[in-house]
Amino acid sequence: MSEKVIVFDTTLRDGEQSPGASLTIKEKVEIARQLDKLGVDVIEAGFPVSSPTQFESVRRVGGEVAATVAGLARALESDIDAVRKALENVEHYRIHTFMGTSDIHITQKFASDRYGKTLGAKRKKIIEMACHAVAYAKTFTPDVEFSPEDAGRTDIEYLIDVVEAVIAAGATTVNIPDTTGYTFPTEFGKKIAALRERVSNINHAVISVHCHNDLGLAVANSLTAISNGARQVECTINGIGERAGNASLEEIVMALKVRPELWDCHTDIKTAEIMNTSRMVSAYTGMLVQPNKAIVGENAFAHESGIHQDGVLKNRSTYEIMNPDSIGMTESKIVLGRHSGRAGLKARLKSLGYHVDKERLNAVYKEFVILADKKKEVFDEDLRAIMGELMEAEEAFYKLDYLHVNLGTTTIPVAIVRIQTPDKVYEDSATGDGPVAACFRAIARALGIRQQFNLEYYQVRSITKGKSALGEVTLRLHHNGDIYAGRGISTDTIEASVKAYLEALNQHRKMVEMEQNPGSIKVEERV
Ligand code: KIV
Ligand code: ZN
Repeated sequence: MSEKVIVFDTTLRDGEQSPGASLTIKEKVEIARQLDKLGVDVIEAGFPVSSPTQFESVRRVGGEVAATVAGLARALESDIDAVRKALENVEHYRIHTFMGTSDIHITQKFASDRYGKTLGAKRKKIIEMACHAVAYAKTFTPDVEFSPEDAGRTDIEYLIDVVEAVIAAGATTVNIPDTTGYTFPTEFGKKIAALRERVSNINHAVISVHCHNDLGLAVANSLTAISNGARQVECTINGIGERAGNASLEEIVMALKVRPELWDCHTDIKTAEIMNTSRMVSAYTGMLVQPNKAIVGENAFAHESGIHQDGVLKNRSTYEIMNPDSIGMTESKIVLGRHSGRAGLKARLKSLGYHVDKERLNAVYKEFVILADKKKEVFDEDLRAIMGELMEAEEAFYKLDYLHVNLGTTTIPVAIVRIQTPDKVYEDSATGDGPVAACFRAIARALGIRQQFNLEYYQVRSITKGKSALGEVTLRLHHNGDIYAGRGISTDTIEASVKAYLEALNQHRKMVEMEQNPGSIKVEERV
């Protein structure tokens, strides 16, 4: 009988660690609800000890979903306490604790003599600490996962000892991360097989894998691990995550579905919800899906050449190995026009996976009417963009109140901006080489930003087709070694640029606030 592979989604934790991606608490809750609808088994909602916002988002997600919610913790009692506190009102939750086990992690991260003077002594100490953490976590919940971080580069004999010891200490899931995306499928498969064969108590835990994509092998490694006995995969929507990202959920799930004869394994994912989830995550994180991305890219089912088009018209299976409907990829639907009412809008948003209460429906409707006035047809993508922007705006500190730009072929562009914060209004003007540069300078002057925020990435794209389409600006500001991303939409790309710039400044402000909070840890310490 086909065996189940547990899908552990870490979009809200590892995915959010993508450079430039940042989600508000409300966005996380909304994504968690959609992940629940998608049918994931475990949602890793964040790393509670790392900041008050992370703590709060894990707490809020915990109260919203049917899936098991997991919180990440280093192998420290204080981290584990933070997960417990965040999820104390949830009946069943998971504590996911981890510790570096490769020699490079041991000698560099645990260099201090208090972890032992020799590699051998440090290795022993790490097993002790890992077991203590697992046993401590176990006093709060029966569901404890342990990850030997950088297992991909960990000596197999030592890895076997670590895994055996943490299972004996109570771990119910042992997750084998290829943290640096270094391993090749054949090697990784052998590692999983060795653990299955040589860890004496392996039957008391589920073997999980967590693969990063630095060499583009995260999905291949995860699938090979399944062939060798892994029964949980950790993955993210659209493959977002630290550096080159994590294994992509949709690719693993569809590989198992399209080629069942290779694995005799299945997941409980409702694949028809894949597109909605992918688009929601993209809109909220501001991370575009590359057009040729497997499964969810815009071109994944597009047939350009005449021969292919001819074949597909005769029979789709000539050039398609899966049906677009199976992942919920439908033609972009025209939603409604300027005369449409709230009920129709609410129904459409619901089918796209959004949860809208009365207050939010009123806010979306307001934006929808403004947009419908400017363009005749409002598409699903427009609605997703509006939702993304509204969620950001609900938590924004700096909000655009007024913008006036003077430009022409023979005049120097001048911008006047007024920015509203909860207690003050800031206003100033500036010139620039172009209208966008003038706006950014005017904002910097209005807010008195003296430190350098370097614009290191700026992209404009049209969300839908047509001359009155919504424009989306995505940008990244670089400041003191950190990156702050912003995204803005408008039918006017200059206004979209200003909104994106303000959003990036809002992210920066949030980060400063977190760092000033004594409970938060330094960014460099984040996994
Ligand atoms: O990549 C990694 O090793 C992780 C662990 C915390 C599982 O994200
Ligand atoms: Zn990771």
